[in-house]
Parts: sequence; structure tokens; C-alpha cells
Amino acid sequence: MDSMVLVSQCGSRVGTMVLPRDFVAAGIAMYSFARDALFALESETAHDVTLRTLARSAPVARRLYARHVPHAPVDLMGMQLPNPIGLAAGLDKDGRCIDGLAALGFGFVEIGTVTPRAQPGNAKPRLFRLPQERALINRMGFNNNGVEALVARVKASKRGGALGINIGKNATTPADKAQEDYLEALRAVHAFASYVTINISSPNTPGLRDMQAGDSLDGLLGLLRAERDRLADQHDRYVPMAVKIAPDLDDEQIDAVADRLLHHGIDGVIATNTTIARDGLPPRWWQAPGGLSGLPLRATSTRVIAALHARLGQKIPIIGVGGIQSARDATEKLQAGATALQLYTGLIYKGPALIRECAQAAALVRAGQRASALKDLVGSDRARASTER
Ligand SMILES: Cc1cc2nc3c(=O)[nH]c(=O)nc-3n(C[C@H](O)[C@H](O)[C@H](O)COP(=O)(O)O)c2cc1C
Repeated sequence: MDSMVLVSQCGSRVGTMVLPRDFVAAGIAMYSFARDALFALESETAHDVTLRTLARSAPVARRLYARHVPHAPVDLMGMQLPNPIGLAAGLDKDGRCIDGLAALGFGFVEIGTVTPRAQPGNAKPRLFRLPQERALINRMGFNNNGVEALVARVKASKRGGALGINIGKNATTPADKAQEDYLEALRAVHAFASYVTINISSPNTPGLRDMQAGDSLDGLLGLLRAERDRLADQHDRYVPMAVKIAPDLDDEQIDAVADRLLHHGIDGVIATNTTIARDGLPPRWWQAPGGLSGLPLRATSTRVIAALHARLGQKIPIIGVGGIQSARDATEKLQAGATALQLYTGLIYKGPALIRECAQAAALVRAGQRASALKDLVGSDRARASTER
């Protein structure tokens, strides 16, 4: 028998499908089946149903997806990862599904953004699908249960792989007190995170992006760095810190951020968050508030990665995110200078098979880089030998 029948229920919809016995093909077929049902639901409801289902089905997910992701090891900020493809922040803001998401085959998972205190986020509806554009617009506004609840969930998880925790400020915290929110969140998550991301780039918390420049950036990074070092001494545990930046920065602003990251000894940079631009979208979306993700963001985010790489070289690793929906997109970002990648919107449209596709692309890029490094080495050995002759 080379197929099996799956009966599934999503909300009130029940459907059947024939699954191929081959696990990779079954994983792809299963997602396209589930996606049709999920896309019939309101987007935030679909998101909740997916996380709840996945949280209960980690062993099945591992068989269908993680087992087929190629080994493409990488060192990222001192962490040894099985592959450089991670989950981007925002999909699991409260850490409700850490083990289920890891079972999809990610090399690392980032949860959050979490704020010190629980907050409801913006009024619904606040998450919109743009299927033609393979994009999403969201104005969630850091809806989350607060850092204490997130830490409890992390403690209850198996904590098998690398786990990033992305921190932000509460919406009601005034700008001049923002630093205290980040410090509080950092202290709370320090013992449980493989790395911490400082999110200063969400467009949905008024004033947040202003912290990407000038004295505000310097003040915040200086304080967080000092606190991280103090915590490292106190608990004998070094936790790398990454900063996540917006795509809506010009070259001069990117250089300025890069210089501040270097100055403060930040371990990594995540580029990028969602964009406030609406280029290429139909007019009905032009005035819609929120951050745009997915394919329309791809080129802008790659441009930011390339500009960061030009300034930073190998000094600070770049985690590339924004519009990755194929092996080609993954390759483009790695060639622009990213060491690792993260996915969000691509997962919604293409499903977990995208992780395997991107990990394969990463393995190929890495093999190509090794081959050209070897060629350079052989070339320089030959040149040396001929001058010595
Ligand atoms: C619904 C939604 C919620 C998000 N929430 C967060 C968040 O809480 N924190 C954050 O740093 N990024 C958040 N992001 C941004 C993503 O992590 C990612 O940077 C962005 O979507 C670009 O990647 P993509 O095109 O692959 O989606 C969110 C994105 C979406 C679509």
C-alpha cells in the first residue's frame, strides 16, 4: 500500500484526504490539505488552532518534518545549531508550543515578543492575509501573557534545542521608562534563553522604532549590555544578545546602527522586522496600519542584510528574515551575508516543508563557500610555490 487516508476536523469542517506513504510527500500533502481548511477560518483563529494542534502532535510532526531536514550545522553567536533555519518571533509569542515547533525541524526557535506585564494588544481584527501577494499585514501590538507566564511555559517545555526569547516594552510604558521594561524582561528570561533578542523595530508599538537611533539606542544597548554581563557573572551563564531592526532604514541609518552594535559588543543582528511600506500592494492596503511581511518585503530585507554585511563583515553575525518562501530566497539572503535565517509568513503559505527546502539551500551555499575557499587556498599555495621556485 503506498497511501493512507487522513480524516481531519478543523473548526466545524471535516475533510478526508489520501496521504502518500512517503513521509516527505505526506508532510507536503498534509499541509496543503490543512491550509485549505485553515484559510477558511479568520486568520487569528486559524493561528490559534494551528498552535493548539501542533502543541499536541510533536511526535507526528517530528516524523513528518524534522527527520527529513538535512543536517547543515552552523555556529551562531556561540550556539551550535543543527541547521541555520529558525522560527521568527511573533508566531509563538507566549511559548505555548515550543516542543511542537522544534519538532518541525527548525535549527532554533524564537518566542516572544514578550513584555514584562501581560497586555491584550490592539483591537481585532489585527491580522490580514494577502494571498495574491503571499503576504500578511499585522498590527497585533505585542499581545502576550507577560514574562512570568512565558518563563513558566519555557520551564515546562523539553528545551531540547536552541531557544531565543524576544523582549519588548509594554504599550503603556512611557518612552522615558522603556529601558526599565527591557531590563526587567532580560532579568526574567536570562536563565532560560539560549539568546535574547532586543526588539526595537515593531511598527505596532508607538515610539518603539525611535529607539533604533541616537542617544536612545546608545542608552538602551549600554544598559542592557551591562546588565547581561552582570547576570553572566552572577549565574556563570553567558547569554548572547541580538538586536532586531526594521527594514525601513536608509544606508546611513543602517551604518549608524551597525556602528552602535559594534561599539556595545552586541552578539547578533536580526534583519528585518515587518515594513510600514506598501510598495506593490493594491490601493485598498495603502492606508492599512500595521507591518507588512512576506514576499513584498523580500528584496528590502535582503538590501538591509547586504548593507549590514558591508559594514560589519564577519564581526557580528546577521540573522536574515523577511519574505523567505523558497530555496532561492534563502540562498539570496545567505549570499547577501546572513549566517542564519528565520521564517514566518512563508510558513503560513508553504507549510513546514519550507524548513527542509531552506536547510538544503543553506547546505549547498555552505558547500559552495567551502569549495571556493579551498580553491583560493590551493591557488595561493600554487602562487607561493611558483615564487619560491
Ligand atoms: C502576525 C505577525 C506577528 C509578528 N510578531 C512579531 C513579534 O512579536 N516580534 C518580532 O520581533 N517580530 C514579529 N513579527 C515579525 C516577524 O518575526 C518577521 O520579522 C517578519 O514577519 C518578516 O519575516 P516574514 O516575511 O518571513 O514573515 C511578526 C510577524 C507577523 C506576520
